[in-house]
Amino acid sequence: MTEAVLTSPSAEHLEQAQTAINTMPDNVIDTTQFKSALVPMYCPELVPSLNYFVNQLGFRIDAIFPADAPATAIVSGYGLSLYLSVHVTQGVQTLHLLCTAPDLAAGGQRELLAPNGVKIRLAHVDPPMKSPTTRQALVLSTMDGDAEWSVGRAGLRYRDLLPDRHGGAFIASHIAILEGGPVPDYVHFHKVRFQMIFCRKGWVRVVYEGQGEPFILNAGDCVLQPPTIRHRVLESSAGAEVVEIGSPAEHITMADHDLPLPSAPLPPEHLFGGQRFTRHIKAEAAWTDWRLKGFEAQNTGIEAATDGLAAVRLVRVTGARPAVVQSHATEFCFYFVLSGSLTVTQGAASYTLNKDDSITIPGQMPYALAASPDLEMLEVMLPGSPEILLEDVN
Ligand SMILES: [Fe+2]
Repeated sequence: MTEAVLTSPSAEHLEQAQTAINTMPDNVIDTTQFKSALVPMYCPELVPSLNYFVNQLGFRIDAIFPADAPATAIVSGYGLSLYLSVHVTQGVQTLHLLCTAPDLAAGGQRELLAPNGVKIRLAHVDPPMKSPTTRQALVLSTMDGDAEWSVGRAGLRYRDLLPDRHGGAFIASHIAILEGGPVPDYVHFHKVRFQMIFCRKGWVRVVYEGQGEPFILNAGDCVLQPPTIRHRVLESSAGAEVVEIGSPAEHITMADHDLPLPSAPLPPEHLFGGQRFTRHIKAEAAWTDWRLKGFEAQNTGIEAATDGLAAVRLVRVTGARPAVVQSHATEFCFYFVLSGSLTVTQGAASYTLNKDDSITIPGQMPYALAASPDLEMLEVMLPGSPEILLEDVN
């Protein structure tokens, strides 16, 4: 019988390999040569560790050698191959095993110790979403002067509209795509409670699970991205801009390698995490009364699609606007000025917002709005229809 001859990389080998990598020009690695991957793990004695990985942890033996006095074994399981050997000099010290219910896997123990001293940590394969309680504040973000754009991946620029994140409960970003053309994205999804994308400028071509062929979001259009819907950004115009609001601020993004998009159509009432997908096309939507006189709004359908969790509206001026103090029982209220100007008065303080400025208004805080005749703004509110107190000032 022929035995596989495998040796563990020595420190010298690793150093040589590192030097070779450092001196290698870009793009010379031919990944078609790669067939599988082995993770080296040291064990002072093979048999106890091998038994533990096979009998206790459920790995299977793929190779063992030499036959007369085994010193090395390859075991595999859960998408991983381990090279267990007494000859390994630098091996992994910790292994994470992902479980559907980690507390049920080992009698409540979340960390196990293998005979070779390696720690086995049991973690969630599908970690639950963490939703911090909102800590609201009045946060003004202006475009003039000191607007900060940070450089993100693939030529994206990010402007954080809510640096304090309401205690981690919300994120609001103004994102600019500098270069037009194909976007290097892949099919992915987010574990979120709420997420919407509004196209501020230019256009973005996107595709969503079950929603037919790719489509273009033009300026003024928006989509509700219900929790876990698979999607992909395909292309954009140069200088396209979007406003993205999400909750919680930090959430997990996962790739889906198995679902190509576009995918088979799903009925409009299909629920993703309890919400329906919604696409709002500004050019086709009607304007109806807003809650204040002298304004009208386009409802994006997000309130119905989220069963009242959130509402997203485009608001503009129609006529005379009597002074009204309002307050609402919201956990989130956000205005982003698209054109014209908006003045928010709160007690003795007054804030004037121009194009691309935004503000968050804490729940229950009394405030008044004044607007220029050419004001148009985006409103995002949770819940969608809170209790609102309106008080005429005159
Ligand atoms: Fe996404």
